[in-house]
Amino acid sequence: MDNSVSHDLLAWYDGHARALPWRVPPGGGAADPYRVWLSEVMLQQTTVAAVRPYFEKFTRLWPDVAALAAAPEEAVMAAWAGLGYYSRARNLIACARAVAARGGFPDTEEGLRSLPGLGAYTAAAVAAIAFGRRAVVVDANVERVVARLFLIEEPLPAARKPIRQAADTITPARRAGDFAQAMMDLGATICTPRNPRCLLCPLAPECRARMAGRQEELPVKPAKKQKPHRRGTAWWIVREGRVLLVTRPGEGMLGGMRALPDDGWSAAGDGTGTPPLEGDWRSLGTVRHGFTHFTLDLAVMALEGKVAANPPQGEWHPIAELETAGLPTLFAKAARIGLAEEG
Ligand code: ADE
Repeated sequence: MDNSVSHDLLAWYDGHARALPWRVPPGGGAADPYRVWLSEVMLQQTTVAAVRPYFEKFTRLWPDVAALAAAPEEAVMAAWAGLGYYSRARNLIACARAVAARGGFPDTEEGLRSLPGLGAYTAAAVAAIAFGRRAVVVDANVERVVARLFLIEEPLPAARKPIRQAADTITPARRAGDFAQAMMDLGATICTPRNPRCLLCPLAPECRARMAGRQEELPVKPAKKQKPHRRGTAWWIVREGRVLLVTRPGEGMLGGMRALPDDGWSAAGDGTGTPPLEGDWRSLGTVRHGFTHFTLDLAVMALEGKVAANPPQGEWHPIAELETAGLPTLFAKAARIGLAEEG
């Protein structure tokens, strides 16, 4: 099926490509490597809809890799707030600085792979989309399309290897970037996890899963484990219209992000934290947040009355400007409870 798949898919893409802010239109050739790289890092584990406003904000603030490399780390982390998986933002900064130092992006998959924090997927995607290199680009959407097209019945993650090999056989030498993005678009809009729209699919005549009537079963996913629960406490400490914020340590959960002081739920998670200062503490409520590997119930405690003479280290951020503090979603939820209390 090799050649006919890429031919049929590219013909479909020519008419149906999604217009996305980091893209050039089908057949448009090379795209700006900075925009491609930035979008691919943002799109890992995150939907196109969630990424769009962040991509627009980043490219407005930092229109090229030299601008991003020169930006203060706190500003980049704050701009990333809400997008999740914060190690991506730390790696983004390291990578931008390495690229700026060498005077531009390497233009091969291998060269891209040697940049800090740039994994196999991103290197392949940037090589193909920004530099027109033939590279096998497999994200979750592509995985689904290929598993169905070739009727790969092995469960994930073991199926990754045969899926990759199969994807290699259909990747064309020309228009590799369009081909990769066409596979992604097909997976996102037609070959969807549930109720795939096979009647509209340009690859339906070649799809082995469809021939077997098994498209909805593939790829076979491993059974989902029940996520463990953790508990923790965040402290809402207010003085003269300002709230105490801290910057979390670089490593670990939400590393490098601004946050409310908390009891280290990320380590112990038993919700028995000791307040950071003496006083009369009152519970304002609890927020729940889902991380990849656990769910956290974070209690928010407020200090009644005056703050003691020696409060914990941190910065006193004006409560009225909390929106601009760059809090990650967990702490933005917690702060909302605190803000409701302030009236
Ligand atoms: N997901 C990851 N990369 C993408 C891209 N370039 N276009 C659409 N969806 C994507």
